[in-house]
Amino acid sequence: MHIVQMRGIVKRFGDLIANDHVDFELESGEIHALLGENGAGKTTLMRILYGLYHADEGNILVNDQPVAIHTPKDAIAAGIGMVTQHFTLVPTLTVAENLALGEKGSLTLDIKQVERSVAEASKRFGIPVKPDVLVRHLSVGERQRVEILKALYRNAQVLILDEPTAVLVPQEVDVLFEALKRLQYSGLSVIFISHKLHEVMDLCNRITVLRDGKAVGTVHKNDTSTKQLATMMVGRESFGVTRQEQRVQGEVLVTIKNMCAEDKKGLPALRNINLEVHAGEILGIAGVSGNGQAELSAILCGMQKPSSGQIMVEGQDLTGAEADVICATGIGRIPEDRHANLVGELSVAENLVLDHLQDYVKNGILERNKIQQQAGKLIKDFQIKAKPRDRLRTLSGGNMQKVMLARTLSREPRVVIVSQPTRGLDVGATDYVRSQLLEQRKRGAAVLMISEDLDEIIALSDRIAVIYEGEIVGIIPNSEATPEKLGLMMSGSNIEKRKQEKKRVQV
Ligand SMILES: Nc1ncnc2c1ncn2[C@@H]1O[C@H](COP(=O)(O)OP(=O)(O)OP(=O)(O)O)[C@@H](O)[C@H]1O
Ligand SMILES: [Mg+2]
Repeated sequence: MHIVQMRGIVKRFGDLIANDHVDFELESGEIHALLGENGAGKTTLMRILYGLYHADEGNILVNDQPVAIHTPKDAIAAGIGMVTQHFTLVPTLTVAENLALGEKGSLTLDIKQVERSVAEASKRFGIPVKPDVLVRHLSVGERQRVEILKALYRNAQVLILDEPTAVLVPQEVDVLFEALKRLQYSGLSVIFISHKLHEVMDLCNRITVLRDGKAVGTVHKNDTSTKQLATMMVGRESFGVTRQEQRVQGEVLVTIKNMCAEDKKGLPALRNINLEVHAGEILGIAGVSGNGQAELSAILCGMQKPSSGQIMVEGQDLTGAEADVICATGIGRIPEDRHANLVGELSVAENLVLDHLQDYVKNGILERNKIQQQAGKLIKDFQIKAKPRDRLRTLSGGNMQKVMLARTLSREPRVVIVSQPTRGLDVGATDYVRSQLLEQRKRGAAVLMISEDLDEIIALSDRIAVIYEGEIVGIIPNSEATPEKLGLMMSGSNIEKRKQEKKRVQV
């Protein structure tokens, strides 16, 4: 039985067709993946189903009945819930208050009563949340759980998850998948968007692939492979980049000495970090998310100050320097949060030159033509699905990431600081960005790359530093790196051993 059928859906934005006569069917009780390149139209299709966009053509059936979905309220009434790429919770309210928001019924809210029913729902659905905690005190993974519970609390029979794992660490992904499989067992139907093919193969029953706004096919998990899926998505099957071994190690361009920092709550986040990055090398920082990477990246990008220690770049002391100073020094920064460095209301072309506008001013006048030209070139090189004049906010998630990468890498910086370079990118774009990082290295840049993706770390890094609880617990050359060995280091096993040995010596 089909719980949802979307028929002949067309969605145009100006002359762009984001959804081109898409047919999509969701069976009752299945987990169905939606796959496709950046800009293929996945989010658009789901926003239509959830009433955030309106289709220009086509219709939607729920349980074989035609339904008119004009707003998310209509979608919720039809039993459809969605967790978007950006959360919609109110940070200053508690979990229970957030879940009560938008509920109809009595005007006065008995919050204790709501908390009780939220706790009950949390237990019933197997989604652990604490009802009385303020949302702003929750981690990203916890906020996502609240979003999911919010949908289930409103009796969603269909749950749409748009790249839910992009913001989760591997352990949280496991927890999410277990919960989804359990919910599926009790009858929930799920639409799951992800760029990670192994996740899709692990979790989903069927897979629908979109390409350039068209549905190119639906396959059953048992009848397909990651290779076939990649071919359906982009028209070729082999992926991956090759890294040439370094011949000689270049001079040291970046030195981080005895650096310490605190996190937002004032607790120690980085403990005595010592690192050197050489010209012509990629130094990978591996670690489970939340072990100090965010602070390390923020400090190196000039968005946070260390509490002690020193950062030297090519002999210049940049400890505590502001972002604009760091930028002017010729350091290319790609911070973890792409929204921090892009402006939604400006055009793609403007965003592409945003951090070096001075290069496009002549006699006090902005050289618009030159900016457009540069934009045209970068859009082509980085295969950004957009036109120079498009507002940045209209781009798909992955294409925003490409804008930031293009802007930074095209300036050929001496030093590149990059965090999670391929998060949210499709398989083809991931390859392209990785090969670009190798290009930077080849022309002699020092690249410091923070990534939670071990495959990425091993594929690109000359040396790998593992961070655990704010400490660098080991640095190994690529030749010695295996996923198993790194995994052990990332879980802190060697540092815990060392601590115990120390204790024994003291006794
Ligand atoms: N509000 C909008 N205005 C104009 N164009 C839009 C708007 N929303 C989406 N688009 C365009 O529609 C196309 C499909 O975008 P969509 O966000 O659906 O892609 P996606 O498959 O979700 O990609 P990603 O994997 O990068 O998230 C893109 O070219 C995008 O620029
Ligand atoms: Mg999307």
